[in-house]
Amino acid sequence: MKKIRKAVIPAAGFGTRFLPETKAMPKEMLPIVDKPTIQYIVEEILDSGIEEILIISGHAKRAIEDHFDSSPELEHHLYESGKMKELEQIRRISDVKIHYVRQKYMNGLGDAILYAKDFMDGEPFGVILGDDVVYTGNGEPALKQLMDQYYKTGKSIIGCQMVPEEQVSSYGIIDGEKTEDENLLKVHDMIEKPSLEEAPSRFAALGRYVITPEIFDILEETKPGKGGEIQLTDALRVMAHCGNMYAYNFSGKRYDTGNKLGYLKAVVEFALRREDLGEDFKKYLKGLEL
Ligand code: G1P
Repeated sequence: MKKIRKAVIPAAGFGTRFLPETKAMPKEMLPIVDKPTIQYIVEEILDSGIEEILIISGHAKRAIEDHFDSSPELEHHLYESGKMKELEQIRRISDVKIHYVRQKYMNGLGDAILYAKDFMDGEPFGVILGDDVVYTGNGEPALKQLMDQYYKTGKSIIGCQMVPEEQVSSYGIIDGEKTEDENLLKVHDMIEKPSLEEAPSRFAALGRYVITPEIFDILEETKPGKGGEIQLTDALRVMAHCGNMYAYNFSGKRYDTGNKLGYLKAVVEFALRREDLGEDFKKYLKGLEL
């Protein structure tokens, strides 16, 4: 079984839900407290033991490249002013091996993943979507939990969690069956953003995948689906029909930072967990007349 050494972050979308902020600034750069959302994603990948990352970028995404670039002048300044903690933080992000490719047209998530074909070079790989941040505290990073399942099964794994009924139409929903490990489901089918009536379960794909390289040939044949876009879900279901797909109900608190309420929840909860801010922020929140 091949080792997972690489991951891809699709980050080409326009971010229309956050306009006007996203007109010139990528939504992936929206900060959760003082760190851009995409940095949480990159750190999850690194903490999972993966060192090579491909970001699928697009129009007006230069700030992402600048963020992960090295910045000798800033590093020098921090060193000279004795700000060693900040220096360490800056070095950690600029040392990461990140590659970029631009998605030419907004043809959907499946099309974006296809841009990773050459980079993956026949290896299995991780995928994390830029909108889905998962907090696992001292536990295993969510992507690492999926990788462990890949090493057990040798098959592609979709990260999932249960969502409330009113949310099934926002996600890829899984039709699966529990295995001996009740968190591991054998996937029979999957539907992209079904209505509540069509939804086969409440297990939703939540932005994390480990995928074997056969996906690329399937994606090349995948016709536009929901919303007229090439959907990753449609390619994954072909693999599922061949018995080559599992889903794992990962542990961790997941935030949908792609919508405004989810984003605000992430900012508030991450701030409350911070040693340097949490207590004061809690006091402030408690004092609000709501
Ligand atoms: C994408 C996928 C969907 C998945 C979701 C998770 O949809 O197509 O299957 O459940 O991400 O966030 P998007 O939110 O990009 O429309």
